[in-house]
Amino acid sequence: MPDQTQPRPPCAPPQLAVIVPTYKEADSVAELARRVDRVLAGIDWELIFVDDDSPDGTPERVRELSRLDPRIRLIQRIGRRGLSSACIEGMLATSAPFLAVMDGDLQHDETLLPRMLRTIEDEELDIVVGSRYVEGGGVGEWNAKRHSMSRLATRIGQRLIHAELQDPMSGFFMVRADVLRSCVRKLSGVGFKILLDIFSSAERPLRFRELPFTFRQRETGTSKLEEAVLWEYLLMLAQKLIGPAIPVRFIAFSIIGGLGVFVHMAVLWPILGLFGSGAFLLGQSAATLVAMTSNFFLNNLLTYRDMRLRGRELLRGWFSFVLTCSIGALANVGIADYLFHEGHSGWFFSALAGILVGAVWNYAVTAVYTWKRHQAA
Ligand code: GDD
Ligand code: MN
Repeated sequence: MPDQTQPRPPCAPPQLAVIVPTYKEADSVAELARRVDRVLAGIDWELIFVDDDSPDGTPERVRELSRLDPRIRLIQRIGRRGLSSACIEGMLATSAPFLAVMDGDLQHDETLLPRMLRTIEDEELDIVVGSRYVEGGGVGEWNAKRHSMSRLATRIGQRLIHAELQDPMSGFFMVRADVLRSCVRKLSGVGFKILLDIFSSAERPLRFRELPFTFRQRETGTSKLEEAVLWEYLLMLAQKLIGPAIPVRFIAFSIIGGLGVFVHMAVLWPILGLFGSGAFLLGQSAATLVAMTSNFFLNNLLTYRDMRLRGRELLRGWFSFVLTCSIGALANVGIADYLFHEGHSGWFFSALAGILVGAVWNYAVTAVYTWKRHQAA
């Protein structure tokens, strides 16, 4: 009779999961898997690629690898983009007690992995960071702009987490699964600074150590982080400052809404100048439409950068945005008018309440109908 109290797994459970976010890395994944297999000999590992539906065949390549070696797995996300959120999903998709996160373009030095595992276990640490800025590490050949951007971001990052971490921007680290899981609900998941996110969301100061490595040159493909990096970074900082109650997208949405007022005036003003006050209704209507349109495109570009609408989707998105915001404007005016006349509130408070209700409505409805519907379908 087999012992029912102690069921044995059919194969060894993984001790270490290596999570690799990918977007358009078809030419590197096989080489990466080969190297991971080589350096982790003697360790029970699994390798999880989290791909955001790369059009270059990355998911197909990973599936091919997985057929040859089932320790290699794929999470394919549809209609979503984002390095941090990809890492988080990968880290939650394993039972391994140790989780490493590593880039898929071979820029991170995989030979560091065994040492990271030894260090985190032997020194009973929460997290081990592959660091470019401690003695012995480096960034290879970087241009001056990238260098100074990285330095600046590093300094801001250090402030944020109150830890003497030399390389808080690193995308290469190993963390205990229980540490990650205990703070996972507090992570902002926006942008690409996952390490910073973990440090600043942890319930207690993390026991960590940095191990040096040299950031290699990218051999194939291109960096996806150079565009809009700063914007995503600011969003994440904003989220950390205001706390989890208010979604950071709402802040971005509101800032863009505020800019819309300037666009509006910039259209209305010349129309009145040219045609006189008789053209107010026409001018006001044109200005409203232009401001809504520019807000739509700015939100699509920035607030919803990771789920940007393109092609035919753009027209549908624009239409639903304008429709929603028109209803929002009616609600805004209605509520402000009611508070002012019936509620006898001051003009300022009435107007503010109207604006707030309109903004929340616009945000909530467009989040579902303009930017998310194509995902649910
Ligand atoms: N799933 C997914 N979704 N993966 C992504 C996305 C995305 O939207 N964007 C980028 N990746 C993947 C890339 O395919 C690559 O494997 C890894 O994330 C890093 O992206 P790169 O585009 O190569 O970034 P980088 O080399 O400019 O930046 C690296 O250095 C930064 C510090 O200077 C990364 O390691 C960053 O994490 C790090 O902060
Ligand atoms: Mn890279």
